[in-house]
Amino acid sequence: MATKVTWYGHACFLFETRGFRILTDPFLTGNALSPVRADAVAADYILVSHGHGDHLGDTVAIAKRTGALVISNYEIQNCLVANGVENVHAQHIGGSHTYPWGRLKLTIAHHGSVLPDGSYGGNPVGFLFYFEDNRKVYHACDTGLFYDMKLIGEEGIDLALLPIGDNYTMGPEDALRAVKLIQPARVVPIHYNTFDLIQQDAHAWARRVESETPTRVIVLQPGQTIEV
Ligand code: NI
Ligand code: MN
Repeated sequence: MATKVTWYGHACFLFETRGFRILTDPFLTGNALSPVRADAVAADYILVSHGHGDHLGDTVAIAKRTGALVISNYEIQNCLVANGVENVHAQHIGGSHTYPWGRLKLTIAHHGSVLPDGSYGGNPVGFLFYFEDNRKVYHACDTGLFYDMKLIGEEGIDLALLPIGDNYTMGPEDALRAVKLIQPARVVPIHYNTFDLIQQDAHAWARRVESETPTRVIVLQPGQTIEV
């Protein structure tokens, strides 16, 4: 069975696989691009890549309403527990764990991770998913370009989700270099157009990537679903 991948804008995705719903970085309240509301979105699992408000987002409210298991680094887990979230699982960079829906490995990401209340959020991470039928999805989350993306690419990535917004993360130039390092079959640009500072022309980026690499680019609209 294919895994359904739906973009909710910014770094928020809903993955649906084996009957489970996995939500990443649920920044919905305050995100004008989000097609769903925090009080209505479904989730069995919530993954948090780092502590910034546009990624932690509505995690606490959604976790309390749905009872979803929240997966993050150990430091963010401590903050979640202090805020009354009881169903948590901590992993850390380089570590993988198998859940009923598949396996998740945390990767490095070059960024910050302080929490909205100023407390320590550990190191930011990216997500490497091993879904049904051994489909591999790399969600880079917030990061600059790093050469070890080549190592991630060596696993054989079916779909990469890469920031192109610039200013806070990779911009279009470095995201193109990231595609060349990772060599995914398909790539979706993320983390752009949410704010004025990260406005980008995703279609221009797509043309450039497809002219310089064999990777196919899918420019999603918020709410749109693809399968992997
Ligand atoms: Ni961030
Ligand atoms: Mn961000």
